[in-house]
Amino acid sequence: MLKEIYYPDRDFAKQARIKNMCEYRDLAGWAKEDYEGFWDHWAKEKIDWFAPYEKVLDESDAPFYKWFVGGKLNVSHQCLDRHLDQRKNKAAIIFEGDRGDKQVITYLELYRNVNRFANLLRNEFGVKKGDRVVLYMPMIPEAAYAMLACARIGAIHSVVFGGFSAEALRDRIIDAQAKVIITADGAFRKDKPYMLKPVVDTALEEGCDSVEKVLVVQRNFEDIVWIGGRDYSYNELIGQQSDTCEPEVMDSEDPLFLLYTSGSTGKPKGVQHAQAGYILWAQMTMEWVFDVKENDTYWCTADIGWITGHTYIVYGPLAAGATTVMFEGVPTYPDAGRAWKMVQEYRINQFYTAPTAIRVLHKLGEHEPEKYDLSSLKVLGTVGEPIDPPAWKWYYEAIGGGRCTIVDTWWQTETGGHMISPLPGATPVKPACATFPLPGIMAEVLERDGTPVEPGEQGLLCITKPWPSMIRTIWGDPERFKKSYFGDVVKEGKPVYFSGDGAVIDEDGYITITGRVDDVINVSGHRLGTAEIEAAIKKHPHVAEVAVVGKPDDLKGESIFAFVVLKEVDDSFGEEAELAKEINEVIAQEIGNIAKADTIKVVPGLPKTRSGKIMRRILRSIAKGEEIKQDISTLEDPSIVAQIQTCVIG
Ligand code: PRX
Repeated sequence: MLKEIYYPDRDFAKQARIKNMCEYRDLAGWAKEDYEGFWDHWAKEKIDWFAPYEKVLDESDAPFYKWFVGGKLNVSHQCLDRHLDQRKNKAAIIFEGDRGDKQVITYLELYRNVNRFANLLRNEFGVKKGDRVVLYMPMIPEAAYAMLACARIGAIHSVVFGGFSAEALRDRIIDAQAKVIITADGAFRKDKPYMLKPVVDTALEEGCDSVEKVLVVQRNFEDIVWIGGRDYSYNELIGQQSDTCEPEVMDSEDPLFLLYTSGSTGKPKGVQHAQAGYILWAQMTMEWVFDVKENDTYWCTADIGWITGHTYIVYGPLAAGATTVMFEGVPTYPDAGRAWKMVQEYRINQFYTAPTAIRVLHKLGEHEPEKYDLSSLKVLGTVGEPIDPPAWKWYYEAIGGGRCTIVDTWWQTETGGHMISPLPGATPVKPACATFPLPGIMAEVLERDGTPVEPGEQGLLCITKPWPSMIRTIWGDPERFKKSYFGDVVKEGKPVYFSGDGAVIDEDGYITITGRVDDVINVSGHRLGTAEIEAAIKKHPHVAEVAVVGKPDDLKGESIFAFVVLKEVDDSFGEEAELAKEINEVIAQEIGNIAKADTIKVVPGLPKTRSGKIMRRILRSIAKGEEIKQDISTLEDPSIVAQIQTCVIG
């Protein structure tokens, strides 16, 4: 596979932490030869331990791996306290609100704010080590304070993305048996207030008996309902809290947070991360992949509701002692130059976003970047979905001025941090390619039987050795954990972690991610399970059966295409467009607007095998308008294919 190669800028490479491919190979080789020694070295060098660990890796209960066994630490101490000697007056968080309001929060101020928050939770609300706290928050500094406050007192946070509906929020609250909810009245988007607290109120109407208190940060000061004895104003309580708070002594393997994500079947999974391994890799990848230096300003545009916001807005940057920018608004408001204006204004050095954002900013404002001085940029990152070569090139040239390495970082909620990515001072990059596994990460493209695929062939992207920041289990469902990740690929007799992604490796060893091979779709970098969307659509009273597939989309990566079979059609059934609208309302209610279907087609039946399995590949081809190449003779009713095609085209 011949592709153009882009080399790192020489001056940048000279000062980078990993300066060339020899240094990369040395590190990767070290990890291969002495895996535990490699991780032992970094854990000792990077983490400020309260008490040392006894063992680097315990594999005795695989795949429930344990790292840095017996070690004691506190993640908020790692992110805050240990920086106070060197960086107390350095900006930790630079916040820009939707309306252009700004706040610079130094490490000392952040430390104090987190301590006050931690004291509020611990002393006023009685939150203890191991309790679950759900955050349903906008992108405001208080969201970061809340996460770090939980880490400080040993509570397990579960951040739920603010775009999820009351139903989705309720499911997550119940699954985690949360004791406290932290939310905001709402926030601002495109200069208008929007609301979050009413969604919490609806979520709590049923089945959330575990919830004792709701803490509300007042951000937009819109009117909300306050329930006495349950709802408390952060703004009123915080001033009374002491700004010192003893950090809880945590074990390496105590849970740090849960983050729910979609799988190929059923309800979302509560991915559980642990303390030491997670924070170690968050910090190391910040240093290696973004090469963040003392005076740099780093900006990741993700939302804290996703793993990228956890690892690369809050934990990674702060553990590395960096300055992290937090942005409440959207990069296209008031125009498609907003992000570039911010890059100019804050002299951003590392910029990290999703391919969908790049495509949208390219489409809406191809020439916007020319209006701004983007010369501060050193490293550009992308994450969340495959990036296409045209978007890559625009990013490289128009934003990076042909100077900045694009780090196409492949990773997942489950991996905690980057796994496959270029190193900005070392890796010769091929466009739209995640390149090589990071040192210490044993990523391979395999067949189901564990044999490596031939160069150019599509295979399954697996990680063949445990790594420190890996998922520990699915909250409350260890069996599902085993089945979801360690059930599909076996190498040398041992089940290995399978990511759910397909990939291709070329003859130079470059890995290109081709996308999910399971029933997960990726819309604008948001991961959604087809099973979840189907379950929502089935709640519509007219729907008998439904199958959802992803359809390639120029802007969003994939769009959602639903084939629905109706119950007996009676007179109350109107136009297809009307039904589609109703179905989307149900989806918005059950999951959130992000899961609304772009296309909904009523069809007479679904292509099923004789054993009743829906042949989604056929539906994917129909959605794309492709010719059907699959063998349809094994279908229970092969004629259904032509009938569906007629409905879709008609
Ligand atoms: O399919 C891969 C895609 O995003 C999935 C993980 O989604 P999530 O857990 O929500 O985490 C997103 C942020 C890390 C992966 O299974 N993905 C992630 N990064 C890339 C990617 N696909 C292609 N290229 C990437 N760089």
